[in-house]
Amino acid sequence: MVYKTLTKVILITSFTVGVSSGAFAADAKLMMGASDAMLANTCAGCHGTNGASGGPAAPTIAGLSKDYFIEVMQGFASGEVPATIMDRIAKGYTDEEIGQMANFYVGKPFVKAVQTFDDGMVKQGEKLHDKYCEKCHAEGGQSAEDDAGVLAGQWTPYVAWTLADYKAGHREATKKMKKKLEDMLAKEGDEGLQAILSFYASQQK
Ligand code: HEC
Ligand code: HEC
Repeated sequence: MVYKTLTKVILITSFTVGVSSGAFAADAKLMMGASDAMLANTCAGCHGTNGASGGPAAPTIAGLSKDYFIEVMQGFASGEVPATIMDRIAKGYTDEEIGQMANFYVGKPFVKAVQTFDDGMVKQGEKLHDKYCEKCHAEGGQSAEDDAGVLAGQWTPYVAWTLADYKAGHREATKKMKKKLEDMLAKEGDEGLQAILSFYASQQK
């Protein structure tokens, strides 16, 4: 009995010591500035491990270009890019920390979403993409090098909401994209948009 209590005390004591020295280490680290990976870990709950989102509620953020990543985070923080949640999150970080998180995520692979799409619209979507979008969203929307996000294999609800924001003028597109999107919508309507979304969603490899 006495022996058991004693072990308990020892266990509790060593546990407490372990925790407090761990907490101290974490505090010291925070004071010195968190590592890129530590900062990025706080995003994993929504954006998945290494930025590959496992579901349609949040976009994949791995493999974007550094310039685009920083620009969109700063846009969330300033309110320039509309958001449901990222405005509040982005405000909590300094420019330096945003740069650190960009460094972490740009080096990770963009994992394309496995999702449903309208098979019958893919061909038309590809044609429309080539005509109106490919110039700045190269390789069928896969390339990150245009600093314009990644569209191929991104979760469709995210791309659809974003396009609705551009269409409504809530998110400001560059002059040239605005013109192309308006031209496309004038000629092809919302069906054209659906076709383009199907084309992006069809790219799963
Ligand atoms: C609670 C869930 C949640 C958390 C946590 C979260 N995000 Fe987001 N993120 C979203 C959603 C949802 C969007 C779509 C925009 C919106 O509605 O706010 C988004 C959009 C983004 C985008 C834009 C992607 C693109 O292609 O334009 C980036 C970049 C991003 N998040 C980075 C981060 C980083 C970095 C963190 C961690 C500091 C983070 N997010 C934490 C939910 C989250
Ligand atoms: C002249 C260049 C240009 C053209 C053409 C263009 N875009 Fe963009 N697009 C951009 C740039 C630059 C961005 C980066 C963010 C911004 O400026 O708002 C962007 C961003 C986007 C985004 C948001 C990406 C994200 O991760 O949030 C979507 C969606 C998009 N474009 C769809 C399209 C579609 C669909 C077309 C064709 C109908 C198109 N774009 C044509 C330059 C272009």
